[in-house]
Amino acid sequence: MIKTITSAEKITGTITPPGDKSISHRAFIIASIAEGESLISGSSLCADVKSTMHCLSMLGVEFQETDRGIIVNSPGIKNFKNPYQVLYAGNSGTTVRLLSGLLASLPFETEITGDSSLRKRPMQRIIDPLKEMGAEISSDNGFLPLKIKGAELTGKHFRPDAASAQVKSCILLAGINSLGSTVVEEPVQTRDHTERMLPEFNIPVQIRNNEILINGPIIPSPADIQIPGDISSAAFFITAALLSEKGSLTIQNVGLNPGRMGFIDILRKMGANIFISNKKKISNEIAGDITAVHSNLRSIEIGGKDIPRSIDELPIIAVAATQAEGETIIRDAGELRIKETDRIKAVAANLQAMRADVEITKDGLIIPGPQQLKGAVLESYNDHRIAMAFSIAGLTASGRTVIKNAECADISFPGFFSILEDIVHE
Ligand code: S3P
Repeated sequence: MIKTITSAEKITGTITPPGDKSISHRAFIIASIAEGESLISGSSLCADVKSTMHCLSMLGVEFQETDRGIIVNSPGIKNFKNPYQVLYAGNSGTTVRLLSGLLASLPFETEITGDSSLRKRPMQRIIDPLKEMGAEISSDNGFLPLKIKGAELTGKHFRPDAASAQVKSCILLAGINSLGSTVVEEPVQTRDHTERMLPEFNIPVQIRNNEILINGPIIPSPADIQIPGDISSAAFFITAALLSEKGSLTIQNVGLNPGRMGFIDILRKMGANIFISNKKKISNEIAGDITAVHSNLRSIEIGGKDIPRSIDELPIIAVAATQAEGETIIRDAGELRIKETDRIKAVAANLQAMRADVEITKDGLIIPGPQQLKGAVLESYNDHRIAMAFSIAGLTASGRTVIKNAECADISFPGFFSILEDIVHE
């Protein structure tokens, strides 16, 4: 699918984003560990989350859509059935990395793989800790497919090199079914959705500074979970409102987990008028409404601890930076190179196609501003966040911007283009 975007002066309205993708994966996975019936409401049903549900259903978990949400009916991890087929995680890194933590303790061998993008993403970061806990894992030199021969796992203390919530969550999920204490010591704090959700299913978690501890084995109970909207999806529309001359947009019921607030903090430092109201707590997460109003942005330096807190939003932040006064520097963001595509290269290539100045560094980008973007034919690189970030860039550009393979937005945000149509007024 090709999408054509033209410039828009006015971005207004009130919208509700889809449920948070990271939290949805965790809700379905943790509900499946517990034997019995859980109710998950407000979840995302994007392609990535469907990949998780598909893999879980091959292990014997049933999902039923109702008007209250999705009922998860699980035999419990102890009664998972052998799928006798390769589990397919599609494009979803979270599916592979979190599920592997479960597969590592099953009493049979499973195999998991993904699409061509996922097969290029590093898995050694989860293979090493799971092997240390006792699982036997073979891979294609640290890449998918993984063959995981489950075992009775033993808890261990880990200090992963990468600041990765997926790695942390993989280890913690394995820890639920392991003997003794499993500790993850984080080099830099990452999103803590797993730690927040586990107690909802009666799985005690201890947190001391940067260490998270689980004492296994634990038998969880089913739970009812409500999921707030996805701030990573909201980020595209927030940016559209900030950049459009008559922008004023409210996004309702958005998750405001501190580990995901990097985008808001960074844009506020750049001078953005972003207001938060109606804060509330749901299922141990924080949610609220976000209002964004047109703002004149200025450049800043982005790096260090702010990177894991904004990792998925860096492509759209780069787009915003082209409209900010001064030179924006993004550094310490090497992890962007191993996402669904090399996002440093993809952002730079598309900005250059729009006739913008941009410099690539080893772990980031330098973007001068403000610059008038020019409409162009752009690659999505089959990366949902690149497709959506550059659709927003197209709203500020002169002329027509064409996004190729724009349907990849469905990976995290089915309905993105129809919401975009609703809020754009020429
Ligand atoms: C995610 C963690 C991040 C993020 C991804 C979702 C999660 O990945 O980029 O989109 O749900 O835990 P890493 O943990 O690999 O940084």
